[in-house]
Amino acid sequence: MISVRVAACRQEALDIIGIELVRDDGAPLPAFSAGSHIDLHLPGGLVRQYSLCNHPDEFHRYQIGVLKDPASRGGSAAVHALTEGARLQISEPRNLFPLVHEARRSLLFAGGIGITPILCMAERLANLGADFELHYCARSVERAAFVDRLRQGSFSDRVHFHFDDRKGGEPLDASALLSEPAEGTHLYVCGPGGFMDHVLGTAKAQGWDEANLHREYFSAAPTSQADDGSFEVQLSSSGRVLQVPADQSVAQVLEAAGVIVPLSCEQGICGTCLTRVLEGEPDHRDLFMTEAEQAANDQFTPCCSRSKSTRLVLDL
Ligand code: FES
Repeated sequence: MISVRVAACRQEALDIIGIELVRDDGAPLPAFSAGSHIDLHLPGGLVRQYSLCNHPDEFHRYQIGVLKDPASRGGSAAVHALTEGARLQISEPRNLFPLVHEARRSLLFAGGIGITPILCMAERLANLGADFELHYCARSVERAAFVDRLRQGSFSDRVHFHFDDRKGGEPLDASALLSEPAEGTHLYVCGPGGFMDHVLGTAKAQGWDEANLHREYFSAAPTSQADDGSFEVQLSSSGRVLQVPADQSVAQVLEAAGVIVPLSCEQGICGTCLTRVLEGEPDHRDLFMTEAEQAANDQFTPCCSRSKSTRLVLDL
């Protein structure tokens, strides 16, 4: 855990705040790669993940951008209530959305606040002299964050704005932009669920290889739990069998039994709780693993995923 202080708060767009964090003791922060996020431990015990959006060569600060989300479970409201000088704990950066540095060409697609990791990736690719294009979609320019930085940066000629109200940029035509999948071209997408589904669905329909598609979700869409049933999990170390009722997650049952599985997002997004499965077939509900990783059925996210078989044997 790292102790940090809020060095600056800035309104980056309508309902989007930019926060700059520096180390409390003035020492340099750990290095990070483009696409990384940190866990922010907020007042009230909330822990939330936010992508770093500053230049990955910087050591003196971390920058995050946070949308005031009316559907928030408390995290975004807590960040928007922060003021300069506030002290917080953060995790070291982790990267679950890394760039493929061998790519011949990179297409970066950001929707709304999804610009945060994408901006950092663009800075990195520009530094490397790599071939890339950035497409940034927002409802309007007022709701688009970091516009000045994108317009005035060294890679401004590779940035394309798409605004729903058509003032300053035409809406995104994903079909045209993704019409030529190529072996060395990688696509990175971050934004709201509907935007991600649209871009990734279009890419898949145009024949893109799943291995060239990279994504980061912010929150999971609510899923119906009406058909959830009960099942068993067995701990391989002790042989102990625990019953998972329809209205509880595996993580809740494990916690009640005194088995500690690290948790963070509790929505199947961050991968913190990933647990090895030795026997049985998980019912994957996460957005973290690729389709191929899910199909291997050798790990699952107990915070949200369930079981298709009557029992899962876990490497716990
Ligand atoms: Fe984030 Fe389970 S806690 S995926």
